[in-house]
Amino acid sequence: MLTIDTATHAAYLISALLFILALAGLSKHETAKAGNGFGIAGMAVALGATAVLAAKDGMDATGAVLAIVAVLAGALIGVRRATSVEMTGIPEMIALLHSFVGLAAVLVGWNGYLHVEADPDGGEARRLEQLQTLGIHHAEVFIGVFIGGVTFVGSIVAYLKLSARMKPDPLVLPGKNALNIGALLLFAALTAAFVVRPHPGLLVAVTVLALVLGWHLVASIGGGDMPVVVSMLNSYSGWAAAASGFLLENDLLIIVGALVGSSGAYLSYIMCRAMNRSFLSVIAGGFGIEATSGGEQAHGEHREVTAAGVAEMLANATTVIITPGYGMAVAQAQHGVAELTRKLAERGVEVRFGVHPVAGRLPGHMNVLLAEAKVPYDVVLEMDEINDDFDGTSVVLVIGANDTVNPAAAEDPASPIAGMPVLRVWEAENVIVFKRSMAAGYAGVANPLFYRENSAMLFGDAKERVEDILLAI
Ligand code: TAP
Repeated sequence: MLTIDTATHAAYLISALLFILALAGLSKHETAKAGNGFGIAGMAVALGATAVLAAKDGMDATGAVLAIVAVLAGALIGVRRATSVEMTGIPEMIALLHSFVGLAAVLVGWNGYLHVEADPDGGEARRLEQLQTLGIHHAEVFIGVFIGGVTFVGSIVAYLKLSARMKPDPLVLPGKNALNIGALLLFAALTAAFVVRPHPGLLVAVTVLALVLGWHLVASIGGGDMPVVVSMLNSYSGWAAAASGFLLENDLLIIVGALVGSSGAYLSYIMCRAMNRSFLSVIAGGFGIEATSGGEQAHGEHREVTAAGVAEMLANATTVIITPGYGMAVAQAQHGVAELTRKLAERGVEVRFGVHPVAGRLPGHMNVLLAEAKVPYDVVLEMDEINDDFDGTSVVLVIGANDTVNPAAAEDPASPIAGMPVLRVWEAENVIVFKRSMAAGYAGVANPLFYRENSAMLFGDAKERVEDILLAI
């Protein structure tokens, strides 16, 4: 017979499948929109089923009104923020959203404690005792609060760094690795103590420990490694949700948490490989990364060029590679760049794009902008596909990119971004750098490319300068 319980479980299963389809769809340009649709449908089914379950479990009128008000207020703020956010602001918004998941896990953990551990003669505590799972509940409360606390504060620090409200430099406290390891050992000891005797003081202690560790882990990671931090916090938020799922005995939350946790961990791993960083060192809060010097020295004289000069250079070129970066997104120069590509192609110049895996501020940022401006996919190449072709290229246009084309990463072992693979633009005959000043990029590292003999700076807003070149051509 179909009961409310079986129907909601079936709905949860359908919702979990929709989330898996969403992840699969989001992995390719062509299917991303459909993937998003599956995600929205999955969330709608999950919310509906949860509301039915809550009604069946006897949620009183006050509870129902509070839940409806919270859902409506959340939806309203969410829709407003999502429709007004700039493309360049998405990573910081994602970081903020991760912090909410962390905070929710802390609150769910504390709520679980108040209902069971703090009320040992209550119905829920007796039920768990009969099932012989009371000890497991103690562990779930404690671990959920810990993961949630780390995610909550870590995500807020990431938000502050990404939105430039906090300096991107890594915080290097003396003995920072020992501090992180000490905090983990302390967490293990506190967990054991709480499982044996669930004292509220221990829960307060682990909450404070998690908040401090979350702050230290992310504050210790430098600007250049922030892309990995965002995907790592994505992963943590998944595990925090899964921990809440165990506490609330909600299978869907466990499944979705595990999906987010593992896909976030895999994305972090892929990004670490792209940036030649040790995965373990980044997730352990920059473990083993020591402060380096050599970031900020001056490098001599730079050369400037005008838009007319660049137009002339392009008219005489046979091959051109464009390497876009964050500045192209800020200036919204992609449409002008696409137009320039078409004009040059009409004149028989071969134009291709070289996209660095962490160019911009979110994975795939440049690909999205170029697709929006209708640049054909087949001329947009990834770093590894194009890096050997700079040598022999007539002109490279570096449009608002900086860290991703910094030769110091390849040549200066003392540089904070040493070892990170970069686009080897300096091997081309001529390099034109579009930016507004000589300022450093996101990682705060000076760029010797600007002072090379074959480099010239085209100062100003990238969109305006590209339009000037189009006029001159
Ligand atoms: P960045 O190193 O961030 O440099 C961007 C450059 O664009 C700046 O030097 C800036 O110079 C210039 N710029 C800004 N506005 C401009 C405008 N309106 N017109 C012209 N130029 C403008 O860029 P990148 O090479 O794309 O590197 C990305 C960096 O962000 C890496 O360090 C990466 O690790 C980090 N990051 C990436 C992600 C992801 S997932 N992709 C997430 C977080 C952080 P001026 O101010 O002089 O104009």
